[in-house]
Amino acid sequence: KRNTLIAPSLLASNFLELGKEVDMLNRSSADWLHLDVMDGRFVPNISFGLPVISHIRKATKKICDVHLMIEEPEKYAEDFKKAGADILTVHYEACTHLHRNIQQIKGLGMKAGVALNPHTPVHLLENVINDLDLVLIMSVNPGFGGQHFIPKSLEKIRQLRELIASSTAHAVIEVDGGITTENAGAILDAGANVLVAGSTVFSSKDPEATILALKNA
Ligand code: DX5
Ligand code: ZN
Repeated sequence: KRNTLIAPSLLASNFLELGKEVDMLNRSSADWLHLDVMDGRFVPNISFGLPVISHIRKATKKICDVHLMIEEPEKYAEDFKKAGADILTVHYEACTHLHRNIQQIKGLGMKAGVALNPHTPVHLLENVINDLDLVLIMSVNPGFGGQHFIPKSLEKIRQLRELIASSTAHAVIEVDGGITTENAGAILDAGANVLVAGSTVFSSKDPEATILALKNA
């Protein structure tokens, strides 16, 4: 049996009832809370930021997995540490000095992740893979929940699994976008460790049962 981690994305939650949504996740078998930060520049949407994450931090003991879809993430890394991020993931496409940004995140005491857009090849990570705690394969174009899983992502997950196996890297593979209880098994078979799910969890009649179904996929 595989040890799948589930990271529900609060982007799809009811923001008017955020406390209740976090309580539900606390009771559930979710492992991480996936927090999507968008700046309206790197992606064509704006979500939520530091003050919201600070409040979520106070309401949960689960790991806060912060996915930054923002330009110049180095300007805000320290602020996200203070807000309570345990894992900070930056986009490959947003970082001119990716190696430096990874060291900065780890120096602040967080786990460091790098996300790849659907068009970005896995091999571009070969010179930093040993430094990473996490690689996030985007299986939709970032910016919005509720999109369809891009099938090509499965091949990228397999390539990343090979890259990690051929190195001394310990990075976990997280996959984000369009994940359902139907396709979760194939994503895990390809080599994913962590599944992000937004609409699948929060539009479900029984979110806790759906989280468990993803975990046992
Ligand atoms: C998209 C975000 C995702 C999003 C996933 O830019 O990074 O985390 O919330 O939503 P679903 O699971 O609905 O595709
Ligand atoms: Zn995300």
